[in-house]
Amino acid sequence: MCGIVGIIGNRPVAPLIVDALKRLEYRGYDSAGVATLEGNILDRRRAEGKLVNLETRLNADPLSGIIGIGHTRWATHGVPNETNAHPHFSDDVALVHNGIIENFRELREELIADGYNFASQTDTEVIAHLVSRELKAGKNPADAAHTAILRLEGAFALAIMFCSEDNLIVAARNGPPLAIGHGEGEMYLGSDAIALAPFTNVITYLEDGDWAVIRREDMKIFDASGASVERAKQFSVGSHLMVDKGNHRHFMDKEIHEQPEVIGHTLAHYLDFAEQRVSGLDDVSFNFKELERVTITACGTAYLAGMVAKYWFEHLARLPVDIDVASEFRYREVPMNKDGLSLFITQSGETADTLAGLRYCREQGQHIGAIVNVRESTIARESDVVFPTLAGPEIGVASTKAFTCQLSVLACLAVGAARQRGIINTEQEAQTVRELSEAPRFASQVLKLGPQIEQLARELANVKHILYLGRDTNYPLAMEGALKLKEISYIHAEGYAAGELKHGPIALIDETMPVVVIAPHDQIFEKTVSNMQEVAARGGKIILITDEKGASKAGIDEIKTIILPEMPTIITPLVYALPIQMLAYYTAVHMGTDVDQPRNLAKSVTVE
Ligand code: AGP
Repeated sequence: MCGIVGIIGNRPVAPLIVDALKRLEYRGYDSAGVATLEGNILDRRRAEGKLVNLETRLNADPLSGIIGIGHTRWATHGVPNETNAHPHFSDDVALVHNGIIENFRELREELIADGYNFASQTDTEVIAHLVSRELKAGKNPADAAHTAILRLEGAFALAIMFCSEDNLIVAARNGPPLAIGHGEGEMYLGSDAIALAPFTNVITYLEDGDWAVIRREDMKIFDASGASVERAKQFSVGSHLMVDKGNHRHFMDKEIHEQPEVIGHTLAHYLDFAEQRVSGLDDVSFNFKELERVTITACGTAYLAGMVAKYWFEHLARLPVDIDVASEFRYREVPMNKDGLSLFITQSGETADTLAGLRYCREQGQHIGAIVNVRESTIARESDVVFPTLAGPEIGVASTKAFTCQLSVLACLAVGAARQRGIINTEQEAQTVRELSEAPRFASQVLKLGPQIEQLARELANVKHILYLGRDTNYPLAMEGALKLKEISYIHAEGYAAGELKHGPIALIDETMPVVVIAPHDQIFEKTVSNMQEVAARGGKIILITDEKGASKAGIDEIKTIILPEMPTIITPLVYALPIQMLAYYTAVHMGTDVDQPRNLAKSVTVE
């Protein structure tokens, strides 16, 4: 998950490339670099760490040149340092790469045998030397690049520059996304349209296997066989909404607070509030009453949204759901009856494992549905039907508003499915639609608990381990709370089904182990009270997230309680997500970690 940029400009490009890289830092930020060409000389500046270090380097030692490439890195091969930072050079070639070259070892040995010396430990450097070797063999730059690309196995998005060419960048895509931007006498390329937003919103997306010869005045695209192909120019939507933090300290805080608004936008896309019905299924190519089961595949937080949806589809629509994380599903070779429905949940729409799962299901003759936040993403483009989340760009690496918007979509689909399958009638549908429409209001109310949660977080900032417990749809929420906390505060946290406590985790409980219990008062609340009593009896410190009724019935001394308003059960997963997000956020802030760009992570995992 790196970010790449290229510009064939009519002005100095180094500052423009850095500006574009800033919009890609969410894809990786352990080192960065820029290369430009001037007077047939390729030159570069690189820096370890955040992009600001590269900017400092460039301010001290500027690069001139009106054609260039840039890269912000999430290390896969080779430690994050300046030597391994892109762009990588060979004698007369410079390139940047997002992805993983799976056969790089054999290529590296072949090139070393041919006399090439490697400066870095990266897989990427082999590509630069392959292109250079083809140039020395007499091929023109475009053919040299194409021949080299044909040797590569694995995932790559590339931008290649040549010291002999001040009006040429060769781009190639196999897996990770690559967008080409059309300007006025300039051409751009980037890992997504957001990077190019300051320059253009006229975008062409390369498809898998495509490679392109890009010049200021035109662009030619070819498929893997070398045949010329056409790819549509389209207007990028939303990229102009280039985000900043406003008066928030972090993007994550801003995005937590945007949830009432974006949940409302998303619900409005699927619900007809006037008719009080689910309208989001009116034009889709399948009908839930003809389905025997649904498979859901996703990663991380998106997977946990799918886990919540399993409860909804099975309870409301009596429709069985098989769910798995994409990194397992893609290799399981699941037998699937044709014409089933496979749903893929993804914020970025570029997660490699999820995309691989989609392509497996395509081969198995499934209807492919994607619940996705980036409409122009690869997964969106390869789906039969897209159910967009209207969360807007989510920059914080820890997913928050995308999660609650995914839940919003899934709740609407589950209610629509229940109606199509005749499990509920129009009045019951109308009642559930009314309940869903209250989610934004309750989310707004719950945000007011921030100061209380911030106080609680102070006590968590120094613990080493935390357990989250929940039942029914609060079980995936317990896992999501643990994931949020661990990925931004680096505290070890686990989410468990509360009923599982006695099957092992209770051995962990002592006075050093805080236990966060997510339990709005419902028909199984008493079961969770028993679990809390088991914890309290062993000295565990309990934080109970519940409503007034739950707080009054818990009956356990010395527990700390976050009390939410009582609300319809169907919206509790959407609304109870907010306190667990805020608990993680404030804990991380107290610990001083990099909340928006936590260590070792990236926003979009486009490699497996
Ligand atoms: C969520 O907080 C994580 N950053 C991560 O688990 C994320 O949900 C996962 O990588 C899936 O990403 P996607 O939704 O873009 O496919």
